[in-house]
Amino acid sequence: MKVAIGADHGGFELKEKVVNFLNENAIEVEDYGTDSLDSCDYNDIALNVSQAVRDQKVDRGILICGTGIGMSIQANKVEGVRAALVHDLFSAKATRLHNDSNVLCMGGRIIGDEIAFAITDIWLKTPFSHQERHVRRVNKIEK
Ligand code: RB5
Repeated sequence: MKVAIGADHGGFELKEKVVNFLNENAIEVEDYGTDSLDSCDYNDIALNVSQAVRDQKVDRGILICGTGIGMSIQANKVEGVRAALVHDLFSAKATRLHNDSNVLCMGGRIIGDEIAFAITDIWLKTPFSHQERHVRRVNKIEK
């Protein structure tokens, strides 16, 4: 699996740690920045990662800003992207099973490192359920 990851200054520190977590778990990572704590616009990073997902350059995307909110709003403007803002394990699993989310958004100012790693792990490992009702609803999103 190949994952694109990006963050703004509010998510930079957690992004660096999630990159390490992915590397330690032998998951291929493309890092779309940012590369420092200098202020930048989450929009640009969200679009770059989301377009990589849309264009199937990667299998999934992970976006981190201060809250995860700006990233998720921006990412969901890209066709084919289903970005989920997740801060707990139940949602991490449910959004894969029910929504087939392909971008995970987290808030670096909201959650700690270990819960972020656990969310990332369960979100990457959980398959879409492919149940008829969930397929129907995802198709409605795409329309
Ligand atoms: C940056 O200060 C902050 O607004 C951003 O990281 C994010 O939380 C926006 O939704």
